[in-house]
Amino acid sequence: MQPVFHPVLVIGGGLAGLRAAIEAKKYCDVAVLSMVYPVRSHSCAAQGGVNAPLGNVPEGRDDTWEKHAYDTVKGSDFLADQDAVEILTKEASERVYEMEHWGTPFSRTPEGRIAQRPFGGAGFPRTCYAEDTTGHALLHTMNEQSVKNNIRVYPERFVLSLVVRNRRAVGAIAWNMQTGKLEAYAAHSIVLATGGAGRIYSKTTNSLIMSGSGMFLAFRAGVALKDMEFMQFHPTTLYRTNILLTEGSRGEGGYLINSRGERFMERYAPSMMELAPRDIVARSIITEIKEGRGINNGYVYLDLRHLGEKMIDERLPGVRELCLNFIGLDPVKEPIPVQPAQHYTMGGIDCNVNGETEIAGLYAVGECSCVSVHGANRLGGNSLLETLVFGKCVGESASDFAVREQGSGENKIDRVILDAIEQEYKKTNEKMKGREGAEKPASIRRDLGQLMVKKAGIFRQEDLLREAIDGVSELSLRFKNVHVSSGTVYNLDLLHAFELEAMLSLAEVIAKGAFLRKESRGSHYRTDYPERDDANFLKHTIARYTPDGIKIEYRDVMISKFKPEKRVY
Ligand code: FUM
Repeated sequence: MQPVFHPVLVIGGGLAGLRAAIEAKKYCDVAVLSMVYPVRSHSCAAQGGVNAPLGNVPEGRDDTWEKHAYDTVKGSDFLADQDAVEILTKEASERVYEMEHWGTPFSRTPEGRIAQRPFGGAGFPRTCYAEDTTGHALLHTMNEQSVKNNIRVYPERFVLSLVVRNRRAVGAIAWNMQTGKLEAYAAHSIVLATGGAGRIYSKTTNSLIMSGSGMFLAFRAGVALKDMEFMQFHPTTLYRTNILLTEGSRGEGGYLINSRGERFMERYAPSMMELAPRDIVARSIITEIKEGRGINNGYVYLDLRHLGEKMIDERLPGVRELCLNFIGLDPVKEPIPVQPAQHYTMGGIDCNVNGETEIAGLYAVGECSCVSVHGANRLGGNSLLETLVFGKCVGESASDFAVREQGSGENKIDRVILDAIEQEYKKTNEKMKGREGAEKPASIRRDLGQLMVKKAGIFRQEDLLREAIDGVSELSLRFKNVHVSSGTVYNLDLLHAFELEAMLSLAEVIAKGAFLRKESRGSHYRTDYPERDDANFLKHTIARYTPDGIKIEYRDVMISKFKPEKRVY
């Protein structure tokens, strides 16, 4: 076994990972390990846009980074760390213009500036967009830049473990799904950019690869996970398929309608209506359905008909195409059946604004990380922004660390590190075998998803959360008896078993954090504790893996400019 060495190793080929790699490449050699080809990463699925206070449309002229910061902090229900939010919002415009200069085909105002639309929880139209496929446009631009910068990408690699020696990250062991072989990598610094964990929920907008595998790697290596109980549920996903239908639909003027034809958001958020933040809109839809004003007891309508065909084709062509392709419905002529579903993991790997974790040389960025800029509820358009702003910061700090480690400039890794990598390689190799057992990974995964939707979903309460915790531990017992077919070349059974191990572990963290947080804040709504409780819970949840089980502590939130206030819209 001879490890492949790169001073900086980025795990994850989405927007955050590629942006970090592009920045790191200015200072040293870097490589990206990615589970899929980078242009197939989940960043591609982002639709509605990326926020920046550019002030490009008349209603947005007075926008500033401070107003963007305030909206973000209020949207987060005051759980976001305000030093991180300040960096996010101050750098937003520069990062968006950078993407424009790199070639992103943003939609335009009549004057030729980057167009901006209103989004939920925002005081101004500040969401820059490329029709309704903004993630796709940004990801392709970013990928072109990584090609231009000769960044080496190892695709179809699934990282199975990190090599940590004396609380210092020194390498990773990855499964090459194309060859079926394990590969060892050595690095001075490692950046985790592996995305969220949405697939823990059976109803989700997330692509299949969003299993939280990178969060699990960090967790098992000794890094805490932060605020994992805060799961975002997007209000408008296509009924049954749960494919995202962008908030941009409401930004462009779409209505939400119940079975009586009422614009019901008037009851819940009279001033912002359909553009209240996502946590509020998602709860309002579920309340309408529970109180008998939903349609067929399962959905409400997103009505775009009044926007007209021209506007829909210009600004929301993806939404029209999705509806036509998946349910044979034309939103120009009929309202769209929608329901909320899991969309974004606000918690993640505990790290600071430079992406540094508590393990030296190990960094995190993007949805797998928790800096935290989203707190208890993320505003739409801030996740793409986070990948751009913190991707750059983290690429810089990871390469800085690597260059310092490199010292003489020689790419040397000493014997003890090689031994540590070799040991981890041997241990990991043991896990590559098929397993005899009665349980299929797919059935446990399905049961986990349904359990989390029912017991740790949009409305939570003590007895349900207790059932979630117990349910996850029963599923973990079933997992011990899992059957995995043998073979290592593109063996999806094996892949799903690895992912499932991560998902079960993260589900336990989510359910325990939610059980212990006896208040309602942002996306975490407890029917038994419906009020926010700043006296006891204006704190981050810090969950740590120990051999005796998960240990949970709390940490103060960083508050500077904006004092917590009642959150009304
Ligand atoms: O609705 C959307 O277009 C999603 C955007 C986001 O999650 O930021």
